[in-house]
Amino acid sequence: MNLLALVRERLAAALTPYATPEELPALLELVRPSQDASFGDYQANLAMPLGKKLGRPPRDIAAEIVAALKLDDIAHPPEVAGPGFINVRLRDDWLAGCLGRAVADARLGVAATTQPRTFVIDYSAPNVAKPMHVGHIRSTVIGDALYRTLKFLGHRTISDNHLGDWGTQFGMIIYGYKHFRDEAAYQKSPVDELARLYRLVNRLVDYHEGRERLPLLRKELAEREADLRAEQAAPKAADPQEEKKRVKALKRLEGVVADTRKDVDALAEKLAAVESDENLAHMAWQHPHIGQAALQETAKLHEGDAENLRLWHAFLPPCREAINVVYRRLGVTFDETLGESFYHDQLAGTVDDLIARGIARESDGALCVFFDTLPVTATGGKKIDAPMIVRKKDGAFLYATTDLATIEYRMKRWQPDAILYVVDHRQSLHFEQLFATARLLGFDKLELQHVSFGTVLGSDGRPYKTRSGDTVGLTGLLDEAVSRAREIVSANDESKPSGADLSPERRQQIAETVGIAALKYADLSQNRTSDYTFSYDKMLAMNGNTATYMQYAYARVRSIFRRGQVDVEALRASAPAVALDAPAEQALARQLLRFEEALASVLTDYRPHQLTTYLWDLANTYSTFFEQCPVLKAETPAVRDSRLLLCDLTARTIKQGLELLGIGVVEQM
Ligand code: ARG
Repeated sequence: MNLLALVRERLAAALTPYATPEELPALLELVRPSQDASFGDYQANLAMPLGKKLGRPPRDIAAEIVAALKLDDIAHPPEVAGPGFINVRLRDDWLAGCLGRAVADARLGVAATTQPRTFVIDYSAPNVAKPMHVGHIRSTVIGDALYRTLKFLGHRTISDNHLGDWGTQFGMIIYGYKHFRDEAAYQKSPVDELARLYRLVNRLVDYHEGRERLPLLRKELAEREADLRAEQAAPKAADPQEEKKRVKALKRLEGVVADTRKDVDALAEKLAAVESDENLAHMAWQHPHIGQAALQETAKLHEGDAENLRLWHAFLPPCREAINVVYRRLGVTFDETLGESFYHDQLAGTVDDLIARGIARESDGALCVFFDTLPVTATGGKKIDAPMIVRKKDGAFLYATTDLATIEYRMKRWQPDAILYVVDHRQSLHFEQLFATARLLGFDKLELQHVSFGTVLGSDGRPYKTRSGDTVGLTGLLDEAVSRAREIVSANDESKPSGADLSPERRQQIAETVGIAALKYADLSQNRTSDYTFSYDKMLAMNGNTATYMQYAYARVRSIFRRGQVDVEALRASAPAVALDAPAEQALARQLLRFEEALASVLTDYRPHQLTTYLWDLANTYSTFFEQCPVLKAETPAVRDSRLLLCDLTARTIKQGLELLGIGVVEQM
């Protein structure tokens, strides 16, 4: 049951004399949960805008609305407060009835939507044959949480992993395989050897690019230094305003020079690192055109060259298996895994269609879609200056071309109402262009969303990297989280007053659940658009908004049933009356019944942290209840049973909520 939606629905009926159907949604937005319980459960401040519109005192309007409002079956008579707030306080007896029904319901009283929509969710999508890194966990867990939540609420939901299995990294690997492979290492572990080859070729390509860039960068530095010297030598301006401007410009220039110098030094250091390594230097010297050559290998693959296709077919299965190992540990599955390669044969047709319909045109030999002449409504209200290239001068198709073909395919196959792309915020221009083009293609009823997310930072505030500056591999990350969780689980077990009672295997199992959960929850509990700082200590903390805390809270609630030897199934079946006499019981009841509201808010803007915030509030509300209201030692059997039901529903709500985040619970910690 969505309490907020119910209150809004009732209010909507009372608003018909004052507002048109078009005005209604914005007014109903002004009905919100009260910040302060003394104002009741929900507060509506919609009489103020209505007063303005109708030129009447808001308090009068509020009083009329209240008189017309039919709420007596669920709430106390609403009050008008202050300048015209309408305060609604739900009735405890009605809430108790709702709780009784929720207990008896496997869905905990959460209704499936009456307006199911079809969603395709595009998430995870790593580039195969490159090691997965910390950034991939964000896309994977956010996408998975949205998938689970949409599905639970009754939408038709398709997860499609748009693997990068056709990109330029394959040219690099093929080149590396042909020239640098260690056959024994390849036989032993193809994935590790391919990853090594990828890193090696990447480094050599970078080296040669860097060598070309360094003199240009040095020249730029020299020019800026000259500019700076000229500015420094210029006389002070007489006018204080002008002088202020001059000093500011000088400061800016100093900053630019310092940054450029840093870039020069970093690049020089990178080149020196290759040159001082005899092996690398030799390879670099022997492969001066490696960048171009790797691109050619990709082009050959795309043109159907037999040898390169054979290699691609040989490389793909072990690479995909390596990724699947990570998915299995994360407990993530996909309905479809249609990688970029799947669309290869479609691209020429997609591009021909763009030309025929006058959507793309040639510019400098490349084929582009231009947006600058479109009305901004066609671009979703944004001004997009840069064109989107769909075919390069040399005839090659691009990431964007594939994404267009993918939309066409998904539309044909599933007729979705929405496609969600859970992808790094750095790709926002790509998606703005893609969505604008899709609208030009006529997909204008389709909801297209870039569910973007920020960067994972290290403790130094910069993108999370290993000490040596490499990106942090996902497998190592998972292992570390699990091994730290294992220490915590062991310490907890050993400090039990009755002595440790977990076998080593059981400890390891719990550690795997707890460690992976900590990692996922740390990510999901952040507002996805912000960057967040990665910290094992914080994510595994027993106190605070962490998975560890939530799992512990769950295990603690469940332990009551063990300690009291309560048969919870029988308790539910006997359907004892729920009584909400103590304030802490009343607060817990409300929080429990807000579960559906929380799930709805996850979907409003595709933000899973709305659910973690809800669960954290629930755990805290429960703590207060548990401190103030004895359960097993309650005054009467009736009170005891009522409180046990609240405990049962709390445990099940935590479990269900965590499950929607892709996080498991353990009965004992
Ligand atoms: N493979 C891409 C990357 O790693 C992400 C793909 C996202 N999905 C999409 N349809 N473009 O950057």
